[in-house]
Amino acid sequence: MFKDNSVNMEMSVDTNKINENINSDKKEALETQELTKRFGGLIAVNNFDLKVNQGEISSLIGPNGAGKTTVFNVVTGIYQPDGGRVIFKGEDLAGNKPHQIVAKGIARTFQNIRLFSNMTCLENVMSGQHCRGSAGVWSSVFKSSYQKGEENRIREEAERRLHQVGLWKFRDELAKNIAYGSQRMLEIARALASNPDLLILDEPSSGLNDKESEDLMKFLKIVLKEDLTILLIEHDMNVVMGISDWVTVMDEGKKIAGGLPEDIYHNPLVIEAYLGKEEGEEL
Ligand SMILES: Nc1ncnc2c1ncn2[C@@H]1O[C@H](COP(=O)(O)OP(=O)(O)OP(=O)(O)O)[C@@H](O)[C@H]1O
Ligand SMILES: [Mg+2]
Repeated sequence: MFKDNSVNMEMSVDTNKINENINSDKKEALETQELTKRFGGLIAVNNFDLKVNQGEISSLIGPNGAGKTTVFNVVTGIYQPDGGRVIFKGEDLAGNKPHQIVAKGIARTFQNIRLFSNMTCLENVMSGQHCRGSAGVWSSVFKSSYQKGEENRIREEAERRLHQVGLWKFRDELAKNIAYGSQRMLEIARALASNPDLLILDEPSSGLNDKESEDLMKFLKIVLKEDLTILLIEHDMNVVMGISDWVTVMDEGKKIAGGLPEDIYHNPLVIEAYLGKEEGEEL
């Protein structure tokens, strides 16, 4: 994966310090402080500090089993942390359920696509917004004009998002019947339909061909302009290098580096973390 192994350790350590200073001037959209998550005796995330700057694309990378998805699962309320904090808009997210976290402005996609396979593409995207609906129980029994208006708004937003990801032509098709690459885009459309401030994507280019990956990168750069912040887990270094403003690297639950993409690419600690896993393991 990393082609140039001839690097200078001392230079890279200095670069890390400089990078931390560059990063500290910016406004954070999301921060984890000493985040820890255990599964029995295994410490999947270990005192992990992450800063995601507002309006940027940040990547979280690391070898298989490093703890990346677990960080996302804690941030999005699937798991509660065993230690540390997740700070979003100045608030500790501890104790919130996944739907509450979506309502606060964080939407995500999954490493293994999770769509409603027997629902249409339009219905799937509409499902992304229900956490934001405000019509109460009574109005769902006696459909009020307010609720009808809300349903219309949800449909219109879903239609807009389907157009945006280029899947309008599949609006009435069942999600299971569209190509794999399109399913990945559909999941992104569903996440965007909740109008998040922070979009987090777990390996969005996994299973995509080169052209689809290129299109995904272009799409993310465009959608970022909608006052959005993006955090992604990514294994494809072309994607990481091509779109990241900032890269954080984790290994065995810990942060081992954070910096600009070109510095991370040449960081010996990062190269070692990846090469150390190479025997018998997929990067
Ligand atoms: N629900 C769980 N129960 C027990 N162990 C888990 C659970 N989820 C993750 N783990 C373990 O935690 C560690 C980190 O897993 P995680 O999925 O976060 O890694 P990852 O960095 O996303 O890896 P990959 O690149 O392969 O997706 C692994 O050892 C994994 O087996
Ligand atoms: Mg993962």
